[in-house]
Amino acid sequence: MSAGSPPARLVVLLSGRGSNLVALADACARGELPAEIVLVAANRADAAGLDRARERGLAALALPSKGLSREEHEARLVAVIEQARADWVCLAGYLRLLSPSFIERFASRIVNIHPALLPAFPGVDAQAQAWAYGVKVSGCTVHLVDAGCDTGPIVLQRTVPVLDDDTPDRLAHRILEQEHVAYPAALRMLLSRPWRVEGRRVIFS
Ligand code: GRF
Repeated sequence: MSAGSPPARLVVLLSGRGSNLVALADACARGELPAEIVLVAANRADAAGLDRARERGLAALALPSKGLSREEHEARLVAVIEQARADWVCLAGYLRLLSPSFIERFASRIVNIHPALLPAFPGVDAQAQAWAYGVKVSGCTVHLVDAGCDTGPIVLQRTVPVLDDDTPDRLAHRILEQEHVAYPAALRMLLSRPWRVEGRRVIFS
């Protein structure tokens, strides 16, 4: 995005607490991110992240996936994302795997944050996986989303030490602090600098 262009329109998808949504919303509000959140959608009506969105005056929508096929649910999701005229889809604790056709539709415009240094510890409970494995450094990864599980090209990573007296919860807390820095920073880079994907590598020029 160049100076004077309109802010990028972000749709945030979540399933739970919404602390990364809050970090993105705060960064937008502080003018640190050339973007606005035009919709927050959750696949669970009880996702606390929807309350966080509403508290901030953001449009928030529950699109429950329960009882629907993946196709039916994604068709509804695509409809609201397109209606919101989204430029980017930001996954922030969205606990559903997206289909290849959804990913193709928003190709190179879907980002995710994962609480480990990918490609180590993809999938659920990444912080506990890293703790149990005994790594001495962990962190978080912001990546473009492809059809695999946490396999897309990496945009940005931040590290944290794993301490001898850590528990999975303490480690998760330390990683989460870095997630709240990494997600806005990665989006800022994607929105404000030219970039391309070469092989698996995201290159900023
Ligand atoms: C974060 O740890 C994120 O990395 C993972 O899901 C969690 C979401 O947390 N994908 P929150 O809902 O943003 O607080």
